[in-house]
Amino acid sequence: MSHQTVIILDFGGQYNQLIARRVREHGVYCEVKPYTTPLADLRAIDPIGIIFTGGPNSVYLETSPHVDPEIFTWGVPILGICYGCQLIAHTLGGKVTAATEDSAREYGKTETYFDTKCRLFKGLPAQGITWMSHGDYMEKVPDGFALTARSDACPNVAIADEARGFYGVQYHPEVNHTEHGTDMIRNFLYEVCGAAGDWSMRGYKETAVQALREKIGDGKVLLALSGGVDSSVAAALLAEAVGKQLTCVFVDHGLMRLNEGDEVETAFSQWDINFVRADAEELFLSRLAGVTEPEAKRKIIGEEFIRVFEAEAKKIGRVDYLAQGTIYPDVIESGAGDAAVIKSHHNVGGLPDYVDFKEIVEPLRLLFKDEVRGLGRELGLPEYLVSRQPFPGPGLAVRCIGDITKEKLGTLRLADFIFRDEIAKAGLEGTMDQYFAVLTNMRSVGVQGDGRTYDYTLALRSVTTTDFMTADWTRIPYEVLDRVSVRIVNEVPHINRIVYDITSKPPATIEWE
Ligand code: XMP
Repeated sequence: MSHQTVIILDFGGQYNQLIARRVREHGVYCEVKPYTTPLADLRAIDPIGIIFTGGPNSVYLETSPHVDPEIFTWGVPILGICYGCQLIAHTLGGKVTAATEDSAREYGKTETYFDTKCRLFKGLPAQGITWMSHGDYMEKVPDGFALTARSDACPNVAIADEARGFYGVQYHPEVNHTEHGTDMIRNFLYEVCGAAGDWSMRGYKETAVQALREKIGDGKVLLALSGGVDSSVAAALLAEAVGKQLTCVFVDHGLMRLNEGDEVETAFSQWDINFVRADAEELFLSRLAGVTEPEAKRKIIGEEFIRVFEAEAKKIGRVDYLAQGTIYPDVIESGAGDAAVIKSHHNVGGLPDYVDFKEIVEPLRLLFKDEVRGLGRELGLPEYLVSRQPFPGPGLAVRCIGDITKEKLGTLRLADFIFRDEIAKAGLEGTMDQYFAVLTNMRSVGVQGDGRTYDYTLALRSVTTTDFMTADWTRIPYEVLDRVSVRIVNEVPHINRIVYDITSKPPATIEWE
């Protein structure tokens, strides 16, 4: 694919993905590479610029990540952020030391003064807030560098060697707390690296379709379609590229939201592909009957899912490629953590052991979520699919507490639909990242008409989050909650009480099971 590339050299900072997203948002393609990547491999990419990320280490320690000084001889502009800035200073003959209490250790929002003659700050205000997080500081700046920003506590907040195109900033321009931070990144890309802005989803669609055709040839491709954004966009891209050679198996476990199964099927009717909808509702419900323990539910659904998928795959016969909707954050993060398993996540991705195939294709491997949505729109997928909020693989099973029955699922489905409908009518969809109803297993006394009722309590849950690892509960206006509540108790049988979940994650998780 012919587009300019910026390399983001990863020194272990916490905002590395954010830097990459900022660069892409400016229409420039970038890739995150570990700092251990051999120099020759980086050179082969022929980057127009390099960004050194932050990191938790102290650059003056022997054991800290370093970089081969040869990288500074390529004539390629470099921007160092936080640790990256100190690394530039350290490598090119400056001196970095631990900041003492009253000098230059800084954390949080910091008033900063910029030299707007520096290309990095061109056209921006001479004063503004930056987000700092560093315990080391540059005691001596390397030869050839000028100081281009300062704070009240620290004289060297930013350094620049304009002639060679090397820039370093102690703060984090990629986070929202830094005023005009993304403009500074933009200046680096366009003023310093001479970016052309040649990265767009329209262009990506064309090149990706071409590349998939070349790779797949006349081979057969199989994809497990969940109805989520990633697998749907992967399916649409492959449909565009290889049409009938693609078979999408959509396992309908009967645990989707209202009308969702039909919506998925309709969206794909625009392509001439093999679309298999395996209607397995009865099977799943019979296997789940009487099961109340959350992990047991997940296990059953995961196993059954694979079994149904496998049975459908066998009917197709020989498969050359298994397609998956892996996206870039999964690639960057893979192998990163050994965090404790809180819930055994079931994703339709991990199936390879069960189907015979030659190779895996992951056509979204290089894209961030926003880009996946953009690509989906380019491919003509309907908005309800492209902007769909995340939905857990086990579906409504983990939102129906206690045992699962068809009746309870029907109740939950309708209540969930009303909640989403009212949020849409209030124009609040953009203010929350995931919102849904949970049918608790608790019943309580109510009064409806002239009679006493003893019926279910429904919980509403909405969270605001960037990474789904932590989340805050959304402050939905009371009037909206009131409308949702009134509608649900009037329109949905067997619910006589509504509660709103006001716990953040942690200590709660987003889903109830
Ligand atoms: P929790 O409940 O762990 O959820 O705070 C975090 C995010 O993950 C989603 N989730 C799942 N996604 N398979 C998935 O693909 C699963 O089994 C699963 N369980 C939870 C959840 O909806 C939220 O977005």
